[in-house]
Amino acid sequence: MAATPRNVPKAISILDLIVKKRHGLALGKEEIEYFVQGVVDDAIAKEQLGSMLMATVLKGLDDFETTCLTRAMMNSGEVMSWPESWRGRIVDKHSTGGVGDKISLVLAPILASCGMKVPMVSGRGLGHTGGTLDKLESIPGFSVAFNTAAMTKILEDVGCCIVGQTDKLVPADKKLYATRDVTGTVESVGLISSSIVSKKAAENLDYLILDVKCGKGATTNSEKDALVLGSRMVNIAKGLGINTVALLTEMNNPIGQAIGNSLEVAESIQCLHGKGPSDVMNLVYQLGGHLLFRAGLTETVEESYSLMEARVRDGTAMDCFRRMVVAQGASDDVAKQLCDPEADVWTILPKSKHVTGLKSTNKGFVHEIDSKLCAIASGKLGAGRSKSGDVIQFGVGLMLQVCVGDAIDQGEVWANVHHNSDTIPPEVLTVLENALVVQDQKLTNISGSRVIKVIT
Ligand code: URA
Repeated sequence: MAATPRNVPKAISILDLIVKKRHGLALGKEEIEYFVQGVVDDAIAKEQLGSMLMATVLKGLDDFETTCLTRAMMNSGEVMSWPESWRGRIVDKHSTGGVGDKISLVLAPILASCGMKVPMVSGRGLGHTGGTLDKLESIPGFSVAFNTAAMTKILEDVGCCIVGQTDKLVPADKKLYATRDVTGTVESVGLISSSIVSKKAAENLDYLILDVKCGKGATTNSEKDALVLGSRMVNIAKGLGINTVALLTEMNNPIGQAIGNSLEVAESIQCLHGKGPSDVMNLVYQLGGHLLFRAGLTETVEESYSLMEARVRDGTAMDCFRRMVVAQGASDDVAKQLCDPEADVWTILPKSKHVTGLKSTNKGFVHEIDSKLCAIASGKLGAGRSKSGDVIQFGVGLMLQVCVGDAIDQGEVWANVHHNSDTIPPEVLTVLENALVVQDQKLTNISGSRVIKVIT
């Protein structure tokens, strides 16, 4: 973004700030702090807050303004503090949201098994993308409500936890997001970056890996826009002292086979047994590899892959997952049954009443499985919320039976639909009608990796 003029008188009221931003002028640090304080104190009239956000979306924020906003938002609440002996090992990962994105469930225990401390504060479903917290809550007894003292105990004992945002963590973001949601001001590089990074900065991390998704199933469709967002987030996180790297990753096709809450938990457990889909494991190892390499655990990214593979193979990553599940409220028996390779997870996890196969109407090769359509269908089955407060049906969703590049026959099942209604609802069938793209030609350029670019 072009540099915004700065040599202008300081605004001394919210009205001044709105007008200044409307003219496309850069705001100073004190002005941004004044704005954020006003948000936290509820001292800004609703219409002024809406105007300010709209002016910000239309005129943008430069890197300096975004860093100031992020810092002020971070300081609007509690900044977590950790034992000094953990310094240099406190890490986390954030994804901008994908379809079938269960990476956190697999990566957090793997990182913990490598000696890291992972205080992961995660979110619920947003739009068509699923939420890590919703997935984990499909485990009976699992809780996501923990304060910093309780998180410290879990990190001491286990090494990782995956929890929800408390009221104390970045309260400014909660208020700003609620207004952005109803004023058409969500889509802004500066506002999205500051919202995401302020929450990660409040976790007081040493290292952060960002998974910035682009494609049909991502919130940012174009590679160019995702690159702008990823670069901005890396810059501001670094400006706040967090050693950060972002991977720009493809999100046209769903990640793995499972889409839906308990289905994804079951698939994550398979991953930790070393039996997960290769695309899920590849993304887990690439994200973890860059993080562990940055954290100085290994000499190369590839060595980090090997270390993580070894922790999966020898069962220590699975053990971290089991202990995290117990530390977060599930009983020993539930956790044991979930994590035992010989046991049936479906005696524990909620499952749908019915499973119906969807058949391909064509013979040929799978060129695409449209992740956005799969996510919408899964949402319509009850796996997501259309408004806050909706109750999630944990067992519903899709299990893909083919991958991109596979040969498929006419009449062959390409996805199993897990549903609670007697038959698959017609609106779900309509959405899924165009999700599978089959063509005559064999695909020749299939990459095993979703990573498009590394942003440092
Ligand atoms: N996720 C967030 O936390 N904030 C945004 O603004 C967008 C996505």
